[in-house]
Amino acid sequence: MPLSTETIIKIKEAIDIVDVIGDYVQLKKKGQNWWALSPFTNEKTPSFSVSPTKGIFKDFSSGKGGDAISFVMEMDGLNYPEALKVLAKKYGIEIEEIDSDEERQQASERESLHIVTGFANKYFKEHLENSDEGKSVGQSYLKERGFLKKTIEEFELGMAASEWDGLFKALDSGQYNLEFAEKAGLIIKKEERTYDRFRNRLIFPIHNLSGKVVGFGGRIFKEEKNQPKYLNSPESPIYHKGSILYGLYQSKQPIREKDECILVEGYTDVLSFHQAGIRNAVASSGTALTSDQIRLIGRFSKNITLLYDGDEAGLNAAARGLNLILEEGLNPSIVVFPEKMDPDGFLREKGFEETQKILDLKKDFIDFLSERLLGGAGDDPVKRTAAVREVVKSISKVPDQIKKNFYFKRCSEKFGIEESLLISEHNKIKFAERKYRDVRPQKPQDLGKQSPEKGVDIEKLLAPREAELLKIMILFGNDEVQDHGRLARYILKNIEEVEFSHPSYSRLLEFYQGIDEQSQYPELEDFFNDEALSEFKATVIDITSEKYEVSPHWKAHQIHIPTLEEILGDKLPTDIFRLKWMKLKALIKDNQLQIKKLWEEHNENTYDEVMKLMRQQKDLKKKEKQIAKLLGNVISA
Ligand code: GTP
Ligand code: MN
Repeated sequence: MPLSTETIIKIKEAIDIVDVIGDYVQLKKKGQNWWALSPFTNEKTPSFSVSPTKGIFKDFSSGKGGDAISFVMEMDGLNYPEALKVLAKKYGIEIEEIDSDEERQQASERESLHIVTGFANKYFKEHLENSDEGKSVGQSYLKERGFLKKTIEEFELGMAASEWDGLFKALDSGQYNLEFAEKAGLIIKKEERTYDRFRNRLIFPIHNLSGKVVGFGGRIFKEEKNQPKYLNSPESPIYHKGSILYGLYQSKQPIREKDECILVEGYTDVLSFHQAGIRNAVASSGTALTSDQIRLIGRFSKNITLLYDGDEAGLNAAARGLNLILEEGLNPSIVVFPEKMDPDGFLREKGFEETQKILDLKKDFIDFLSERLLGGAGDDPVKRTAAVREVVKSISKVPDQIKKNFYFKRCSEKFGIEESLLISEHNKIKFAERKYRDVRPQKPQDLGKQSPEKGVDIEKLLAPREAELLKIMILFGNDEVQDHGRLARYILKNIEEVEFSHPSYSRLLEFYQGIDEQSQYPELEDFFNDEALSEFKATVIDITSEKYEVSPHWKAHQIHIPTLEEILGDKLPTDIFRLKWMKLKALIKDNQLQIKKLWEEHNENTYDEVMKLMRQQKDLKKKEKQIAKLLGNVISA
């Protein structure tokens, strides 16, 4: 919900950049500026500077820079309004928000939930610290498990009382809103009775990224029949299990510094690791790892190390996790612990050095999968084939083509199999996937009916069009076409002012544009065999792997020089116009979003910019209409 302009101005006036950044790093004054070790990299000599007069920071080791607000966004992984709210809190500025009643109501509901979970957190901590049973049961349990005071404090551990309604009574007498306490899952109402969800349990509060408690995990002290070991808060408007990670609030800075996030299974694993100085550990606690969680980690580091125990369940979970990580474009590594040992137990039994040793043995996913799948298979060809297929399947999930190339190389070395074989296996997988997922772009006339706001992802629709044109150039680029010269040349001329949106396609297009008129274009095989073209290999594989729909039977009779129509029917011109048209749609959508965003910022500087964008918008729409008309003609012809 946007803040009022008034509030934003107040916050900006209050900000003292040295003071704000000083909360995160230790600054020392040298000359006009303040200096510190970069919080974004792991450096030995300070290259991070803050200029109080300009109100900006510059980090020479990572190249990052900005004002106090962008610093908070960067450090805490927050968006603009969230960072403003953090700063408002720091400077005790009352927040005034503007927007619809509905949003206001939702925000106030979340606020109310935060208030009751905040109270419960205090209550649990207090009970652990001061009550008789807190001392005799809670503290002695923690002591026995070796958790130190500083860990207990940092993670704000607490204890739920053994009576039925300890928290309920405290909430009630404090006049807290019981409806929200119920919604947050703290109390349960059944007929005439109301009682606590968490009773006689060790409490692990779960923090969101800005440090607010949103839910709890409660561990039983002594295993009991018919009692789950852990009890968790239910989902609520402030607590979505799939998009929160236990310990991330405490770990985000270490994760950034080490450029690695270690993912463990349980609450106690996170605690033990932190206590031992391995502070970049988080847990998905209880739920299977989700894409949301991976993206959350990705804000702080692209490298995720999965720690799983070596039993079958653990290994399967690891395999599943690594595929998800690959899909999100991050880099997974895996550490396998000895069977029946969790990181917490291992650390306690074997100590820090042994643990660190195991962590250092982490494997990349190709090593992990191949070792796991080959196991004792030795040279068994059936098992080897199955293993290769599984690894290639994982590689096929990687969105980045350059990375894909790299993994093909590693896999080829690992299995002693030619890359081209792996690639053809990859193509089979991709082809099978495509059969089930209709990726054919919609007809333009259908597209026109949907406005960009209704959620047509034009970038997504553009990529297949771009691929189509590239495919034609790759497969038939050197073919002479009657009246048009070489086919690739003809296409390039027609899309002169078009830029491709897909980064790999755009690079390939640039490469084609760079080939001069007299030279040959590469043949398909050249992309696989010529070292100089290896950069494009994976892209070309992707593009050409789908069976080519335009039957090239005319190639059989070489003497006849075919016309464009003979090769492609009316396909090519349509493709070109369609691409141009979609590109325009994408621009219009972008523009629209930008206008909306600037508008919502309500900033005195944005007005002119908004007007400019609106004028552009008008021009773009005019052009779009023209092309759409043209396109209509081409299609119906
Ligand atoms: P300790 O046994 O205290 O060392 O805890 P742990 O974190 O090592 O637990 P364990 O390895 O048994 O389980 C890993 C994680 O799975 C826990 O941290 C919980 O998040 C979750 N979990 C385990 N048991 C239960 C359960 O009975 N119910 C629910 N909801 N989650 C559980
Ligand atoms: Mn454990």
